[in-house]
Amino acid sequence: MSKEISESELKVSKIKEGTVIDHVKAGTALIVLEMLGITGLEGTVATLSLNVPSKRQEKKDIVKIEDRVLERSEINQIALISPNATINEIKDFKVVNKFDVELPEVVSGFPKCINPKCITNAREPSMQTYYVKSIEPLKIRCKYCNTDMERNDVIKQLTKFQGLTQ
Ligand code: CTP
Ligand code: ZN
Repeated sequence: MSKEISESELKVSKIKEGTVIDHVKAGTALIVLEMLGITGLEGTVATLSLNVPSKRQEKKDIVKIEDRVLERSEINQIALISPNATINEIKDFKVVNKFDVELPEVVSGFPKCINPKCITNAREPSMQTYYVKSIEPLKIRCKYCNTDMERNDVIKQLTKFQGLTQ
């Protein structure tokens, strides 16, 4: 498949209302869905494209979620594992707002600290706070126990990805 392949050739349909998360790091759309708490069972209408050709990156994922606008905290979570993603808000089939995700210097509320003895694992998870030391490759440092976490550590804190060895 050519990298210049058009979207119509990919047979991805446009959505009427909702959010398109574009330029998602290839292969990570399922992680994005879990971060957003989407299992499918709640009835959310979503379309995923995994590892499709892209002009900007060699390959990318696309996540289209109907009838949902993302919160800032959710966008920050996406930025942790896919720092080049673009958020497109769609109203009546038009892109009404487009912006790049941005990782703040401090992230809180997610993920769970990998240090089992960390105070944030004993108390309310909302305490979790990390200083972003590096975006790519990702390195975040727990404010409470100074443990550093990398991208894979973050991914492994999600229930579906616990067994990931890579
Ligand atoms: N999109 C959609 N439904 C719509 C409008 C747009 O699913 N009603 C999707 C497009 O398929 C694309 C993304 O939202 O994946 C951004 O749309 P658009 O800005 O039109 O595309 P590009 O100009 O290619 O975006 P960019 O420059 O950000 O790559
Ligand atoms: Zn900690």
